[in-house]
Amino acid sequence: MHITMRQLQVFESVSRHLSFTRASDELHLTQPAVSMQVKQLEASVGLPLFEQIGKKIHLTDAGRLMLEHSLSILSQLKEAEQQINDLKGIEGGHLKITIATTVNYFVSKLLPDFCRQHPKIRITLDVTNRKALLKQLEANETDIVLMGQPPPDIDVIAEPFMENPLVVIASPNHPLAARKKISLKTLTDETFIMRETGSGTRNAMERFFAEHGMVTSSSVEMTSNEAIKQSVQAGLGLAIISAHTAELEFAAKRLVQLKVQNFPIRRNWYITHRTGKFLSGAAQAFKSYIIQNAH
Ligand code: PGA
Repeated sequence: MHITMRQLQVFESVSRHLSFTRASDELHLTQPAVSMQVKQLEASVGLPLFEQIGKKIHLTDAGRLMLEHSLSILSQLKEAEQQINDLKGIEGGHLKITIATTVNYFVSKLLPDFCRQHPKIRITLDVTNRKALLKQLEANETDIVLMGQPPPDIDVIAEPFMENPLVVIASPNHPLAARKKISLKTLTDETFIMRETGSGTRNAMERFFAEHGMVTSSSVEMTSNEAIKQSVQAGLGLAIISAHTAELEFAAKRLVQLKVQNFPIRRNWYITHRTGKFLSGAAQAFKSYIIQNAH
């Protein structure tokens, strides 16, 4: 069999997406180029790897077998690359960091110094919500993750490095803004602007509401902290968000933190990676840097 690494990479991508189009997008190749690589691989193997049923493509038995071996070859090659980068010290290599959207507010302040200290480390920063980030951890697709609550069902090493208080925010013109003490019961008549399902902030808020037997009368859902802050400023309602995300607005008095009983909800940020994950020199340097500098 004359099989190339490129063919295996293309085949793996098509198998994961079960789509030639999505694989070509991911690999920045044309669709005919993707089809050609798969055809050549099929010619070497001597059996079809995909079958088209209706509009969908599926792996054949030979395809499934090839995928299993391809994944193991590709992951061994990645491991070799990482170990060699490590031998080269921390001044090179590629570091994939995945962070929760809410973490972005302080990580973007910390990254410039790290990059200045290690100019040769190539960084990919993926900013996403908790649900997507757990998927990446599970699939071992990232080196380091900065997140809220570590997952109980995935084997990870998680170190808390910073507090993450969740607070209730309002527009300065809101009737509750000037109140010195607000009971939880008062909040049940308010409209809440919430993050999307799958967000860690949203999970924490729902857990808190359930623990305190609170049912809010109405709510609006938004997928971004920025959109939430702007809507709260504009008077749409209240929101519960990480205090870090609203530091600028508090300082500019565009938002206020309400003095609500039992708040803030106390959480931590964790720096996390899979147990058994080989941390390159670059990943280790980043981990120590965050633990020392984030506060
Ligand atoms: P998120 O933040 O709400 O942006 O998903 C993660 C978390 O707070 O756990």
